[in-house]
Amino acid sequence: MPLSGRDVISIFDFSDAEIEGVFALADELAKFARGRAEICAGKILATLFYEPSTRTRLSFESAMLRLGGGVISCAEMTGTSVAKGETIADTVRIVESYADAIVIRHPLEGSAKVAADYAHVPVINAGDGGHEHPTQTLLDLYTIRREIGRIAGTWVALLGDLKHARTAHSLAYGLARLKANVVCVAPEGLEMPREVLETLAHEYGVTPRQYPSLEALRGDVSLLESASRPTQANLDFDVISIFDAIYVTRVQRERFTSPGEFERVRHSYAIGAEILRNMRSDTLIMHPLPRVDELDYGIDADPRAAYFRQAAYGVPVRMALTAAVLGRREIPLDPHATVEPRIQPPAVRAAGATCGNPRCVTTSEHYLEPAFQRGPSGLRCAYCGRAAEEVKR
Ligand code: CP
Repeated sequence: MPLSGRDVISIFDFSDAEIEGVFALADELAKFARGRAEICAGKILATLFYEPSTRTRLSFESAMLRLGGGVISCAEMTGTSVAKGETIADTVRIVESYADAIVIRHPLEGSAKVAADYAHVPVINAGDGGHEHPTQTLLDLYTIRREIGRIAGTWVALLGDLKHARTAHSLAYGLARLKANVVCVAPEGLEMPREVLETLAHEYGVTPRQYPSLEALRGDVSLLESASRPTQANLDFDVISIFDAIYVTRVQRERFTSPGEFERVRHSYAIGAEILRNMRSDTLIMHPLPRVDELDYGIDADPRAAYFRQAAYGVPVRMALTAAVLGRREIPLDPHATVEPRIQPPAVRAAGATCGNPRCVTTSEHYLEPAFQRGPSGLRCAYCGRAAEEVKR
């Protein structure tokens, strides 16, 4: 199935071969990332950002301009009729008549799916609350592939606020399916959500080890054997040296409902010169950015600090994706690859079931009927993916 016309709501919207195809096209289009092609001439991309953004919004807009297309945008969504109460459904039904594709970021989980359900042009999720950020994952995976040369078999530690960081959720799925080894390091209360862990287990048979701190991880020498470090030499290795990449996320202040809880965890982890001394010379420090204080500015000049290069890869990756969904370029596909995107279970009404997620888009877009999907890990909200509460009759 071609990418042309497809919505991009989740990393599950791509097959493994399509992810590789996007990367191959990004490699090809990278030569225009400082120039201009005419690949999308005559097309218009609309960017609807209900939440702040620097990288995602500007790299999508840069990508479209580099492709020779046009961009329409609003400086602030509060300057649109959203301020008068216009819904997501109505907003995208208007914007689709002005643009050929829509990129949307919204604070509520499941909002991008709502936009895709109502718009007839491709909708790309640029982050829906704490749920998913699939195009960030594409550029994160692209960074690993470009800088390490492979994804399969790499060891990647996800460090930080894994509860709220949508980038970490989508990336965990992407890494697991492409056969990387994922380890989670999160302070108490900020661990990877149950739904993400259940999906990793059910879809890929992956159960990441979890640690409350980098110190706890470095104390687990059994990781050395898991990573095939010679047992005899184990004492000579810091456990951190097994990792090909450390992916750091900030504490997502905007997702906390309790200021006290935020204060408790806000300074609970950081990467500085000490940890770099014990890492391999080729381990990448990655971060979706923005950072707050979890990455010391003193490490920026170290070649292992990959986060600014990572952000720059957003342009060729989003050029490739935009050209593909607009039908202006085919992504090259391995003819032997047969894996299709995950087929979502059909959305069903479930009498007595409720989502229970206060950040689900169904809590504020009044026209939405609750809908659920029954999968291997039980009933989930079809919008935000959160496990649904089912009333037994
Ligand atoms: N990484 C990322 O999503 O950055 P922005 O919030 O600046 O778009």
